[in-house]
Amino acid sequence: MNFDKPINRAGSQSSKWDLMQRGFGVDPKDGIAMWIADMDFEAPDFLQSATQGLIEKANYGYFCGMESFHEAVDWWMHSRHDWHVNPEWTFLTFGLGHGIATTLQAFTDPGDTIVTFTPVYHEFQAKIEKTGRVNLQLPLIQDADGLYRMDFDAYDALMTGREKLLLISSPHNPAGRVWTQSELTAMAAFCQKHDLLLISDEIHQDLTFAGQKHLTAARAMPEILDRLIITTAASKSFNIAGARTGCVIIPDPALRARFAPFFHSFDISPNLLGTELTKAAYSPQGAEWLDALNTYLEGNYTLFKSAIDAIPGLKIMPMQSTYLSWVDTKDTGLTREEVRKRVYETAKIAATPGHTLGKGGESFLRFNLGTQRALVQKAAQRLTDAFADLR
Ligand SMILES: Cc1ncc(COP(=O)(O)O)c(C=O)c1O
Repeated sequence: MNFDKPINRAGSQSSKWDLMQRGFGVDPKDGIAMWIADMDFEAPDFLQSATQGLIEKANYGYFCGMESFHEAVDWWMHSRHDWHVNPEWTFLTFGLGHGIATTLQAFTDPGDTIVTFTPVYHEFQAKIEKTGRVNLQLPLIQDADGLYRMDFDAYDALMTGREKLLLISSPHNPAGRVWTQSELTAMAAFCQKHDLLLISDEIHQDLTFAGQKHLTAARAMPEILDRLIITTAASKSFNIAGARTGCVIIPDPALRARFAPFFHSFDISPNLLGTELTKAAYSPQGAEWLDALNTYLEGNYTLFKSAIDAIPGLKIMPMQSTYLSWVDTKDTGLTREEVRKRVYETAKIAATPGHTLGKGGESFLRFNLGTQRALVQKAAQRLTDAFADLR
């Protein structure tokens, strides 16, 4: 469990490192990749053993025995999130992007409006648009502590009556908010009031900092169980996104009956590597590793925050979870292009530009801190230098 151990991912077909030149003009030779949401840590032994087990069998044919997968999911959800998941509720997808796109299409029609609270994970908007739906972006507001909050009174006035579904990120990508019980209760009332289904995307469920507790919608919003679809995966928590395995979980039988025929029409069945890695992750060893990871990530945040706090005009949003840090550049007085030059060209850091995450994200950058502490330190120093003249 040595998160400090450097691994060189450049040239390894890593999207994060090998596409940053194309995406940001940052050369991986001396640049730092802090954009797409995966981590630079070596896979832990329990994941390597699962992969090794497959290799030793020397056969990659059709497979059965999904009971052990569902047992692992149920064990994990119950032990970490106080929720028992019945195997009948779960549909396995090729990663969660696919799960979300399929769910949108199963429950809504082209032209229907889908609500998001923005800024939010950019692929929400992309999937809504690609599937021919319309996105109503309701902006989050910042409270006195700089945390994102929902403003339901304002949202009520913006609803048109054409909305069919609300899609949320819980915890929240990009800002790492862990929504509280009272926020989720208010959200449930909003869904009832406007007759909305809710997709609660909980892919970041496990990456919470000390003192924070992710509340799964299935337990926190029992009053809307008949409107609820939960999407989740081990992919962010254990850095196995390349294995493309996610779960769409639908506890309500009537909703499931609507979803199942559409889902099964694509003849999708699980992926061997993804199911084996998920099973290995959802284990006591996985739990121990994850606890250590969260402590390490929080340490990265503390370091990064102290550097950002010292740069005039930059403001970091307090993080409660994830490894994604959301930094506002508004008070620098610089244009987006000027900020881009300083971050991408001077500091040589590839960070996600906030405008891609929707309304309200325009002046922000998202930095991925899921990497070795030394690299976070280096990035912090480069940003300090790149903005030094603002002092
Ligand atoms: C909130 C959220 N949902 C879904 C995904 C996509 O997951 P996948 O890589 O499994 O498609 C991500 C990836 O960053 C995410 O942050």
